[in-house]
Amino acid sequence: MDLDAARKRASLEAERPHLLGRHGREPRRAHREQHRALLYDILWYVARTMRQAKGEQVRHELLPGQSVDLLRELHLVGRDGALHADSLRKLKQVNHLVQLLEPALRDVLERHPEPVLVDAGAGNAYLGFVLYELFLREHPSALIYSVESRADLVERGRERAARLGFTRMRFVHAPIGESPKDLPERVHMVLALHACDTATDDALLLALRHDADHVAAVPCCQAEVAAQLKENRHAAPQPWPLLWGHPIHRREMGAHLTNVIRALALQSQGYQVTVTELTGWEHSLKNELILGRRVHREHRGARAELEKLLQTTGVQPKLIRELSR
Ligand SMILES: C[S@@+](CC[C@H](N)C(=O)[O-])C[C@H]1O[C@@H](n2cnc3c(N)ncnc32)[C@H](O)[C@@H]1O
Repeated sequence: MDLDAARKRASLEAERPHLLGRHGREPRRAHREQHRALLYDILWYVARTMRQAKGEQVRHELLPGQSVDLLRELHLVGRDGALHADSLRKLKQVNHLVQLLEPALRDVLERHPEPVLVDAGAGNAYLGFVLYELFLREHPSALIYSVESRADLVERGRERAARLGFTRMRFVHAPIGESPKDLPERVHMVLALHACDTATDDALLLALRHDADHVAAVPCCQAEVAAQLKENRHAAPQPWPLLWGHPIHRREMGAHLTNVIRALALQSQGYQVTVTELTGWEHSLKNELILGRRVHREHRGARAELEKLLQTTGVQPKLIRELSR
């Protein structure tokens, strides 16, 4: 069972007035639900406390060549030498992604004398630091750009990179959509780990506009298409609207449709696309990984499929709006 999700669900239910007896349900039931929420809170706390790595267990989490020193500098490993629950989850996400990206990384590093990587919506740039330590450090002309809209994170990243002597890490303080002016014309790989909502679309656009050989996106909190499905509830012919009639279905279908459209858009632009899981669901609920490798200039069949899907569903995610400008 995913305790995080169960706990959140139980807490939400307990908070909602229509479940608390105002609409005819007896107070005893509301009471029971509050108890259930409390129980989930306790279970969640226990599970979080247990889900951490200490001492030798920390070493088991490392990839070959990965150092505890770097993880300490990134504050993933705490002063007590442990990887606490959130840090452990983040490290698992980053390390899984790095492993899945390794063939693409090797391809980029071998084929380009001056390889350029971009981490879009980088946050604390954990991914960039790990990639630098494992792959870029020994490659004297490889650059990685971390693009991030929060000034404090950009500044912290710059300071860390300076302390670590990671001289070929660059930190761009800009929205992803406006970052191209700070980036080289040609980039070879674009990464977006949990870039929020349409920031993933901006990252994919960046990859397309900079002709990236490889792109990898793990989308996060997608709200745009769900709102469009709500707004144009009957744009699609029956029985399609049945798939998003309820808010929870709309949210799930919105996210799913967005990712299907992203994958098809990449395919239509000449990328070979693989969609897979990033890691176990216990380490991340935002777990869909879209990998693209450029193999053609375009793919007309995929474009036709994409157009049909857009026409039928009536949605227009940011990626599509921007591509048709
Ligand atoms: C959920 S965090 C993920 C951070 C990091 N990639 C990771 O997985 O640890 C998303 C980050 O993207 C940044 N972000 C969101 N929208 C952005 C945009 N349009 N341009 C640049 N950064 C953005 C946020 O400030 C935040 O730091």
